[in-house]
Amino acid sequence: MSKFKTVFYVAAIALTLVLNITILIKLRASSKNNLNTKLQSKEINLLLDNKNNLNDKDKQDMVFKNADGFGKSPLEIQIDEHFVDYTKLSLNFTRVENWPTKFPENLTEYRETILKTQYLTKQNQWKEEIAPWVWHHRGVAEDKYIGKTDTREKAAILVLVRNSELEDIKHSIRMLEDRFNRRYNYPYIFLNDKPFSNKFMEHVARSTKSNTTFALIPQEHWEVPDSIDMEKTKVEFEKLVSQDIVYGGSLSYRQMCRFNSGFFYKHPLVQNLKYYWRLEPNIDFYCDIDYDPFKFMRENKKIYSFVIILYELKKTIPTLWKTSLEYAKQNNITSNLLKLFVNENKDYNLCHFWSNFEIASLDWYRSKEYESYFQFLDSTGSFFYERWGDAPIHSLAAGLFLNKDQIHFFNDIGYRHDQFARWPVSTTTNEFGIKCQVPKNIKENFDVASGECLNFWNTYKPYEWTNLDSTDALNTLYMNRFKAANDDTNVITINRWREMIVNN
Ligand SMILES: *[C@@H]1O[C@H](CO)[C@@H](O)[C@H](O)[C@H]1NC(C)=O
Ligand SMILES: *[C@@H]1O[C@H](CO)[C@@H](O)[C@H](O)[C@H]1NC(C)=O
Ligand SMILES: *[C@@H]1O[C@H](CO)[C@@H](O)[C@H](O)[C@H]1NC(C)=O
Ligand SMILES: *[C@@H]1O[C@H](CO)[C@@H](O)[C@H](O)[C@H]1NC(C)=O
Repeated sequence: MSKFKTVFYVAAIALTLVLNITILIKLRASSKNNLNTKLQSKEINLLLDNKNNLNDKDKQDMVFKNADGFGKSPLEIQIDEHFVDYTKLSLNFTRVENWPTKFPENLTEYRETILKTQYLTKQNQWKEEIAPWVWHHRGVAEDKYIGKTDTREKAAILVLVRNSELEDIKHSIRMLEDRFNRRYNYPYIFLNDKPFSNKFMEHVARSTKSNTTFALIPQEHWEVPDSIDMEKTKVEFEKLVSQDIVYGGSLSYRQMCRFNSGFFYKHPLVQNLKYYWRLEPNIDFYCDIDYDPFKFMRENKKIYSFVIILYELKKTIPTLWKTSLEYAKQNNITSNLLKLFVNENKDYNLCHFWSNFEIASLDWYRSKEYESYFQFLDSTGSFFYERWGDAPIHSLAAGLFLNKDQIHFFNDIGYRHDQFARWPVSTTTNEFGIKCQVPKNIKENFDVASGECLNFWNTYKPYEWTNLDSTDALNTLYMNRFKAANDDTNVITINRWREMIVNN
């Protein structure tokens, strides 16, 4: 080895050591802090997410994570790529009617004070907490309603999005406006766990004639709860990463799934709404929607709706079915729909409505049953220890609490998210041919190519699922796990399962 190489290696090793020690010191220091879990979770987030195969946008957002405008001096904020200075907005943004409008200069201190203050209701506190970061833009379409009766539903298009996804969300808005909303002008509500940048708000507000409102998410709706063991989380992340599970190492992905499972319907801006339409960045709509789906939902007493139904990755939800059955047993649930999600082994068949498109009743999400199911799931910590998606949770909740006729399959809505695209296939008429346009490069209709779950849905006949079925399914699950306990992918020991069977 040449002298030069030796020097190089020594330097490289020294640098690695210094970096490792820095990380250790950081973790150490943060564990002394009383914000213990929160800081640690951020550190671990960065450590794990960096290692993972994240796309450039996620990486960009990760940089932003530590430069989010909270606790930063105005000077630092200005050099940030994600410029936030709401005194410099050029469009006519206003505060939301009846929301707080006066704030002290130091917003970090303001937020901390609100978080420490006792309020009569959580809603009041959340509203006060996020108010400085909430802006409303009145769309010109509202002129149409001056002096006329507004027959629109109490509904909005709800979007959880990051500043870095600006182009992708503009694409989705363009699609939705073109196919539907230019005729109805339903308002948009944009939510973010970080303050929206000036650029984001100005671009998006100009993308539609509808009202747009931009808001922060209350801290409690996003932060990792103190009860979560971050050391355990880290170990479990690494297991999923080693199995190449998509987002297996991402903490923010888990925070998002938890938010979409149990918090979006608690946001102060949606409290007066009956229905919501979830819109995600970078999706396509292929067909004209020339009626109002919100009105359709109300008039036909629909509570939940979907366009794509597909299989979930089993490794992301090892204990979701078990936990749901335990919930069903504890609450003596009787259901006509749960069987849709059960296979011949009495196990979850992994079918779920793909919730990135969802038009649903907010009153249902705010119901006691849904909330109690979410709380039960959340108490296990498995949003973090496993990688539970909100889609199977919404679906199993529908299975537990709804009837088939309360759910609508919007067959006429052509839709693409990620690599999955579907549109109505009509053999008898060319009605859809006129209303839809599918790009040439999209070769495969998901409903045709992978339509097993859709077929279960189409042919499903109500079956009365009672507590006996829940008990039976739980016992079957325990027996099967017991048999498979030698399989080293199984994390639960034989003794633990034996105990469970006995206790059941
Ligand atoms: C705002 O208050 C926080 C906490 O007291 C402090 O760390 C920060 O420096 C303050 N920011 C400005 C701009 O004064
Ligand atoms: C802001 O509102 C005023 C009054 O409604 C209007 O004259 C002006 O053109 C608006 N400015 C922008 C940038 O939209
Ligand atoms: C749009 O915003 C204006 C206030 O800017 C409000 O009066 C109106 O009711 C809003 N329309 C909808 C459909 O939310
Ligand atoms: C459970 O529900 C069934 C059907 O609604 C009912 O007949 C039964 O009495 C309930 N059992 C308990 C323990 O509440």
